[in-house]
Amino acid sequence: DRHDRARVEELLELATGIAEEAGQMLLAKRPARPEVLATKSSPTDVVTALDRAAEELIRGRIAEARPHDAVLGEEGGDTPGEGVVRWVVDPIDGTVNFLYGLPDWAVSIGVEVDGEIVAGVVHNVPRGEVFTASKGGGAWLRGERLRCNTGVPLAKALVATGFGYAAGRRRVQAEMLAQVLPQVRDIRRGGSCAIDLCSVAAGRVDAYYERGTNYWDHAAAGLIAQEAGARVAGLKGKPVGPDMALSAAPGLFEELHDLLVPLDPERD
Ligand code: IPD
Ligand code: CA
Ligand code: CA
Ligand code: CA
Repeated sequence: DRHDRARVEELLELATGIAEEAGQMLLAKRPARPEVLATKSSPTDVVTALDRAAEELIRGRIAEARPHDAVLGEEGGDTPGEGVVRWVVDPIDGTVNFLYGLPDWAVSIGVEVDGEIVAGVVHNVPRGEVFTASKGGGAWLRGERLRCNTGVPLAKALVATGFGYAAGRRRVQAEMLAQVLPQVRDIRRGGSCAIDLCSVAAGRVDAYYERGTNYWDHAAAGLIAQEAGARVAGLKGKPVGPDMALSAAPGLFEELHDLLVPLDPERD
């Protein structure tokens, strides 16, 4: 109802302000050559001091505005709260791009109420783009409502993908790609799951799939893609999970889904 709507829009506004502030901090503090502080699950899976600093800033702002909310963040883990609201934070999605000075990395903040994402913001900082969505309220960029591409057959689809970092996944990812590439127009590996899903929303690519993502990668952007008319799910009716994140307009979604199912190593 109207009351819930107002509350969701308020959460979205707060999330957007915090993402923009974190983005400004990151732009101001990013050294010409950021240093890798540590690697996590694999040598590709890097973390810099600014991943941690951005998450701390975001957590600080959430705690000031809403001290009882829970927060799940990539760098800081799951902090329980006292109410129904949980914030899902990826302080820098696309850390490898951030490290190399490539222009696609984002601050991603999703807001759950009762376990469901109802608001999301993805701020592509180098490009100055702020994608937002609220459940039932549409997906937006620069005051314009986003709509994903429709009616595109698989053979003409530009497909974004990524290769989740968890160790031991590379061979399966490569085998999948080898099967997909000859069936589609072309592939893009942008380096940020959140931006890839926003690109589906904005019609900058036709579809996206990836094995091995984490919840914070797609929490906000999944809602943005969905609110732009795309389907966002895993394989065989499952929700998005570490096995598969898949997004495209209905039609193309099913075509890509059916291509991927037999390639899924966890198939029954
Ligand atoms: C990564 C990016 C990348 C995707 C990986 C993610 P991070 O997030 O979204 O595009 O392929 O699965 O882990 O580590 O840069 O926040
Ligand atoms: Ca990371
Ligand atoms: Ca991420
Ligand atoms: Ca990250």
